[in-house]
Amino acid sequence: MEDLKAAITAIHRERPLSTVVLTGAGVSADSGIPTFRGEGGLWRNYRPEDLATAAAFARDPLLVWEWYEWRRSIVREAKPNAAHLAIARIPNTLVVTQNVDGLHQRAGSKDIIELHGNLFRTRCVREETRRDALDAFGTLPPHCQCGALLRPDVVWFGELLPVGAFERAGRAVRAADLLLVIGTSGVVFPAAGLVSFHEGLSIEINPQLSAISSACTFAVAANAAEATPPIVEAIIDARTHR
Ligand code: OAD
Repeated sequence: MEDLKAAITAIHRERPLSTVVLTGAGVSADSGIPTFRGEGGLWRNYRPEDLATAAAFARDPLLVWEWYEWRRSIVREAKPNAAHLAIARIPNTLVVTQNVDGLHQRAGSKDIIELHGNLFRTRCVREETRRDALDAFGTLPPHCQCGALLRPDVVWFGELLPVGAFERAGRAVRAADLLLVIGTSGVVFPAAGLVSFHEGLSIEINPQLSAISSACTFAVAANAAEATPPIVEAIIDARTHR
């Protein structure tokens, strides 16, 4: 794998001290969680406008919740893979994820920005209060104690990202010595736009070319669970031999 070797050589040359890791659905593909686009992707079988917009929820909250309960059950059964675990070992790193599966937390990453929310949290549509909700609900759709509907605390199409999340991510990407971009198609904004904030060394890990491959210094054509551990070893090794 020439691209992997070249990326590792660059890490040894530049010895990055700070890293931002931007992840998408592909980092969890090796944990058995379906991605959105591409073969087997969720958006091949479901229409986002039926399931992932505020209008869809207002129209049919039960349908939307059934879909989310199905996704929650898949994620509950899944485990962090070698990529999540390797990412959690990078010193001085911020993880910026588009994923809502919480696998970076479960792998041990401490500093995480969840740009699109989390499947295991609810939000009251009236009071806006957020609560952790790990277990399956007995009845769907779930309601708040105040009587209003609860919705998944995720960002749907047409909605704004959590306050301050993008701004903090942008500042960190700009300041980082190294940007790792793992398993995202790079077509959903504003998340995809973060890559253009980075001027130094950037390495993408994705078995397919993405919309942002050409913006990265290296594009490693491999699965996340395969290529992330050696990249992380190189980062740790380069710091030790500074
Ligand atoms: P996508 O489903 O759009 O893209 C997944 C990417 O992962 C693709 O580029 C695949 O080639 C790559 N991939 C697949 N298997 C992989 C593996 N084993 N290792 C590494 N990469 C792999 O997912 P995202 O880019 O995360 O938004 O999608 C962005 C947003 O679109 C999601 O957060 C979601 C979706 O609609 C909202 O729900 C708001």
